[in-house]
Amino acid sequence: SFRFPTSTPPLNRYSFPPHFDFGVASSAYQYEGAAKEGGRTPSIWDKFTHAYPERTSMDNGDVAVDFYHRYKEDIKLIKEMNMDIFRFSLSWSRILPSGKLSGGVNQEGVQFYKNLIDELIMNGIKPFITIYHWDIPQALDDEYGSFLSPRIIDDFRNYARFCFQEFGDKVHLWTTFNEPYVYSVAGYDAGNKAIGRCSKWVNSLCVAGDSGTEPYLVSHHLLLAHAAAVEEFRKCDKISKDAKIGIVLSPYWFEPYDIDSNADKEAVERALAFNTDWHLSPLVFGDYPKTMKTIAGNRLPSFTKEQSMMVKNSFDFIGINYYTTRFVAHDFHVDLSRPRFKTDQHLQYKLKNRTGDYISSESDSSKLLWSYPQGLRKILNYMKNKFNNPTIYITENGFDDYEDGIVTREEILEDTNRINYHQKHLQQLQKAITEDGCDVRGYFTWSLMDNFEWEHGYATRYGLYYVDYSDGLKRIAKNSAKWFKQYLQRSEKPL
Ligand code: BG6
Repeated sequence: SFRFPTSTPPLNRYSFPPHFDFGVASSAYQYEGAAKEGGRTPSIWDKFTHAYPERTSMDNGDVAVDFYHRYKEDIKLIKEMNMDIFRFSLSWSRILPSGKLSGGVNQEGVQFYKNLIDELIMNGIKPFITIYHWDIPQALDDEYGSFLSPRIIDDFRNYARFCFQEFGDKVHLWTTFNEPYVYSVAGYDAGNKAIGRCSKWVNSLCVAGDSGTEPYLVSHHLLLAHAAAVEEFRKCDKISKDAKIGIVLSPYWFEPYDIDSNADKEAVERALAFNTDWHLSPLVFGDYPKTMKTIAGNRLPSFTKEQSMMVKNSFDFIGINYYTTRFVAHDFHVDLSRPRFKTDQHLQYKLKNRTGDYISSESDSSKLLWSYPQGLRKILNYMKNKFNNPTIYITENGFDDYEDGIVTREEILEDTNRINYHQKHLQQLQKAITEDGCDVRGYFTWSLMDNFEWEHGYATRYGLYYVDYSDGLKRIAKNSAKWFKQYLQRSEKPL
């Protein structure tokens, strides 16, 4: 089976700065299940998976991996791997069933998260909370279209303030939102994630473009809601002095399809602007990137002076979920009001020739082709140089495979590819920190275990633990879990 080149010496936790945190990530809808238990009301994902099962591989998160009932055992698995920290999200509709603080609190939901936090701490694992990971209460969407309306800003502010008051004494790391880019584009342009809106349907197929207005509006309200929550965080008396708050972005790195083409290189700049800078520029500089303003014109909302001041610097750190790199080519055939690029993540033959460190396998046509560990180092340097060296957590990095008959269960458990994926990315990360001076404080793998992967349902497996869906959701350690255990071993005398 395929192996990554192993020319670089192996590292371990002591190759990273002291207090660097290693962890695993999860999210409420993908893990908890218990959709109708404990006073929880439906979120947009409950509606989406049940209304359009064909868009989520006929699967849903009703049971998911039953984390709601099994969190105690699952925390043992995290501890077993010598991990320091666990990233999870709060289900908004489990805490506030109507979505609004004024509509009443579900104490049972609050208690669930208190128990979870206590259990983590008791096991020596730090809790890292994402307040919102894509599962807004359906009630708020029914009432006013959730993030399409500015009314979301106050509802999110109130929800976040409540969370800070309830959990703030024990939780020192917080993020407001997971991946605004994916949320806005997949939910309001491409239609492949909840709430499933598409900017252009042709013969009942969604032909997504960048010409819509909704993704821009949604992201605008989301940034304002984020900033409102951070205001609350900074004045909340329950939050300890050393606690930090951020937001999770999902940057790709981009490479020009043709390295000699200026048009492709300019397309890379535009891709970065529309992908990373879209949310990062307002957070660091108080406004959208110039490129976006020029191209999107008045489809892109603008900030008032006051809003701009509020959004600027509304973070202590930026979380980044890095998975892959994409090729970008200038596209001469699309209309001028769009960013004019096409991306392709499966044409990495070019990268192979260029870097000599490309990953492929004879037997595998696509899955490994999207792995490009150097992209992590490059995006970190891009953020450092262009955005004043922000403090960063790698809040997700991961590799998926499918148990589809071609890849067997035995191969999945052997897990050579995933081990190599993480090893390579950690090498690049270590260089970014020690050689380039990027300020990165932690690294989370996506994910602790296989789980409900949105439009792919349970077919895609990202876990360090295998979940046996045909045997009572049994968790089985893949070799990657064992590899991390070794990598993260604490020793009296660091090597
Ligand atoms: C991120 C999300 O986009 O990547 C996770 O924050 C998600 O929730 C993960 O599961 C994997 O993405 P996908 O689309 O391949 O399932």
